[in-house]
Amino acid sequence: MKLISLALTFVTFLLIVSVIHAKKKKEKGPQCSTCKEIVRNFAKGLERTKKSNYGGGNTDWEESRLGQYANSEVRLTEIMDDLCSDAGKECPQMLEAHEELVEEFWFNSGLAKVEVEFHRYFCIENVKACCPNNTFGPSCKACTGGAERPCKENGECDGQGTREGSGKCKCKLGYSGKECDSCNDGYYEDHKNDTHTVCKVCHISCKTSCSGDGPNTCDECKEGWKNDENTGCQDINECSDDPCKENEYCSNTQGSYSCLRCNVACNGCAGPGADKCAECNDGYLQKDMECLDIDECTSDGHEGRCTLEGQKCINTAGSFKCICQAGFVKDGDGCKLKPKEEEEEEEEAELKPEEKEATEREEDSDNTSKPDQGTSEQENASKTTEDTPKEEL
Ligand SMILES: *[C@@H]1O[C@H](CO)[C@@H](O)[C@H](O)[C@H]1NC(C)=O
Ligand SMILES: *[C@@H]1O[C@H](CO)[C@@H](O)[C@H](O)[C@H]1NC(C)=O
Ligand SMILES: *[C@@H]1O[C@H](CO)[C@@H](O)[C@H](O)[C@H]1NC(C)=O
Ligand SMILES: *[C@@H]1O[C@H](CO)[C@@H](O)[C@H](O)[C@H]1NC(C)=O
Repeated sequence: MKLISLALTFVTFLLIVSVIHAKKKKEKGPQCSTCKEIVRNFAKGLERTKKSNYGGGNTDWEESRLGQYANSEVRLTEIMDDLCSDAGKECPQMLEAHEELVEEFWFNSGLAKVEVEFHRYFCIENVKACCPNNTFGPSCKACTGGAERPCKENGECDGQGTREGSGKCKCKLGYSGKECDSCNDGYYEDHKNDTHTVCKVCHISCKTSCSGDGPNTCDECKEGWKNDENTGCQDINECSDDPCKENEYCSNTQGSYSCLRCNVACNGCAGPGADKCAECNDGYLQKDMECLDIDECTSDGHEGRCTLEGQKCINTAGSFKCICQAGFVKDGDGCKLKPKEEEEEEEEAELKPEEKEATEREEDSDNTSKPDQGTSEQENASKTTEDTPKEEL
């Protein structure tokens, strides 16, 4: 028994070692991305040295003696100095191993010195780090669906252009199948022939599948929609059942509905805004179809408000507050003259809006002529954004 378990442990160990070894081996192959970096920097170097010459001196004389700068070793050296941009080890290693290829490419007059030619010569044909477009793997096999139009142009071929990958298709949204020539659930086939497949998304009212464009092609209607014999899936207007709470109004949406808070001026409403109130809230008065805030500090009966010494009346949305005038501080229900030495600092502080508001709140204990009822609820309401939908489905 002990021997068997020991043997099993040993086999497991061997397996792990071989897996690690295989992984390392795989990483060892030249990386197409590294090779592409060299090619990119080669193109940049070409551009950078385009207008250069031998530098200083009599250029004409240099050119006639040393040959054209454009094809010179001097220029090649300048380009080769910057072929690896990242600090990684792989690029310098690849370059060192294949330096003579770069020189061969440079001095072979039959090859045009352009990026795409260098990529083909260096990365694909000689370093063998990359493959031509639409081919993949160690021997550059054609991608699934052929190198001409892999994945029917409805997906991406895994490993395409590199010596890696599986060559399998990763289909675009809406497409499925080995060659991405079938439509996914929720999509319908708009067009299909030997070479092309076009899938389009079903109408928003369809539960899953459909046979074509529009709400009358759904196999089944989505929740929130009901089937009509002639027109297909139609939106249900949930608002006709008055599903919202007090002081909210209903807004129908495609397949659903939202309950939104009434304007602060309203007590019940049919829509957004102070002109859609069923009734005006306390502290508001209807004028021209709209509920407007009453200025309690100037309206009828204001004479009795905030009349204690040093007080003044401030109108608020739906109510009013009594605060202390400049030079006064809170004292019980009323206000008293500010002690002399504090006066200067405090007067400056009064100019800051936040502090002023804080004072107002502190003084908010007066109830002499009208209870300041519901203020906290109204403040809450105005903080909740008026149109934030509250999905009820
Ligand atoms: C290969 O594909 C890339 C981008 O997809 C393109 O820029 C390049 O020109 C293609 N190369 C060839 C030889 O078709
Ligand atoms: C297939 O359809 C495409 C358009 O989607 C068209 O360009 C192509 O010519 C068609 N091929 C054949 C063989 O009918
Ligand atoms: C309102 O004021 C009266 C006196 O003016 C006081 O007796 C009563 O307690 C106050 N009520 C509240 C809720 O502050
Ligand atoms: C204030 O709003 C929150 C949610 O936004 C709610 O839970 C709370 O009950 C509200 N308070 C008042 C006083 O309306």
